[in-house]
Amino acid sequence: MVAARITVNGKETPLSPAAPHTTVLDLLRERGLTGTKEGCAEGECGACSVLVARPGVNKPTDWVAVNACLVPAAALDGQEVITSEGLATVGEPGTRPTLHPVQEEMAVRGGSQCGYCTPGFICSMASEYYRPDRCAHAEPADGADAHADDAEHGPNGFDLHALSGNLCRCTGYRPIRDAAFAVGEPTEDDPLAQRREQDPPAPVATEYTQDGATFQRKDTLAETLQLLRERPDAVVVAGSTDYGVEVNIRSRRAEYVVAIDRLPELRELRVESDHIEIGAAVTLTEIERRLDGDVPLLAELFPQFASRLIRNSGTLGGNLGTGSPIGDSPPVLLALEASLVLADADGERVVPLAEYFTGYRQSVRRPDELIRAVRIPLPLSPVTAFHKIAKRRFDDISSVAIGFALDIEGGIVRKARIGLGGVAATPIRALATEAALEGEPWSAETARAAARVLRGEGTPMSDHRASSVYRSAMLGQSLLKLHAHTTEAVSS
Ligand code: FES
Ligand code: FES
Repeated sequence: MVAARITVNGKETPLSPAAPHTTVLDLLRERGLTGTKEGCAEGECGACSVLVARPGVNKPTDWVAVNACLVPAAALDGQEVITSEGLATVGEPGTRPTLHPVQEEMAVRGGSQCGYCTPGFICSMASEYYRPDRCAHAEPADGADAHADDAEHGPNGFDLHALSGNLCRCTGYRPIRDAAFAVGEPTEDDPLAQRREQDPPAPVATEYTQDGATFQRKDTLAETLQLLRERPDAVVVAGSTDYGVEVNIRSRRAEYVVAIDRLPELRELRVESDHIEIGAAVTLTEIERRLDGDVPLLAELFPQFASRLIRNSGTLGGNLGTGSPIGDSPPVLLALEASLVLADADGERVVPLAEYFTGYRQSVRRPDELIRAVRIPLPLSPVTAFHKIAKRRFDDISSVAIGFALDIEGGIVRKARIGLGGVAATPIRALATEAALEGEPWSAETARAAARVLRGEGTPMSDHRASSVYRSAMLGQSLLKLHAHTTEAVSS
């Protein structure tokens, strides 16, 4: 097996002697690439953003921005990384480097004061700069604005959600937005634009051991499942958006870590006649872009799910695998009546998500099993909504989250599925509320009566995010809001 190494700004960088838990951020800084900064070390500020060459949605390769503070360096064995230092073009000794177009716009538009956050903004911005279909959403030549009502997109097609995981504490966001909305199209001789036309580096089987700890990546699902049977103590990671926080904030030092994020069997997304199957290791950004609104409830979820940086690494398998009662995807997937395909070395079983969670961060999944895929049955219910109650609009943890999926025919609620997060030790279905709605006219009176039932669902607790009384009140308000927003559509 070849010694583990990452290609950083075109130069091979061996991992050794870094520990298996060492993050990409720490590796880069130890090797002198100190443009990449640590702000929070838990995926919330984006100061550590770097670009990774990943399988593309519309081209062979996408330049994907990720939080270097969360990803173990060993997880990028054999992969290509670009940092803010690698974006500028260095000329002859003694001459100034030529800034990348994104760096140039940030500089001339005053997008940087102290500069601490700037390399992270630059990498997130560069990822959006190279998004292949960005310019397809640019303002048409005749002057009509493709996003006239959308303050989150620039006339150049730049989606501000690309920066939703980057914080700046001194410049202010307007000059940064100005820079983002000013970048043009990559030129034909831009090496990173050209790089998109070739395949990204293939995943590399890795067994990296230092000081008694091991990071392992196998080539296939079968090999991985056999490994999990032999090592039930293994910590399984996909995007590491949860594990990275454990490492940095809680000093977790797992003896044995197994990566599953590049297993081909977990990376498929298929639309069949009666269901959609989403591989557990397809990233949230990939799902968002590949489904392109075909599942409206998921399309509503994604912009509210953490930040673009997190969605570029995070997966549905990870969000469900951690079993958190406040994960954003379970309320939506419960409303969609999703099932999980669980695989072990002997075969597979399918478990409805409503029967998956058994207690606080516990589930029916055994240590030797992996979530292989999430199945969403078709057809979809036509009336759906996702309400996330949080202190910030984006990149926040919910106090309460509610997913709704209703079939309403002739003004009568034929079927209601409601998933709740943040009101019990596990995500739950609002079964009593569903029963209160089904068979009833979709009227204000029904909504008010069902809202009273919904306020009593679960066992919400009081903590630093919200009181139990507030959480219950928000449940009821959520149903009233759904009714107010849908009445016109249903009656028309
Ligand atoms: Fe804040 Fe990585 S250091 S997101
Ligand atoms: Fe100082 Fe952003 S420029 S924090």
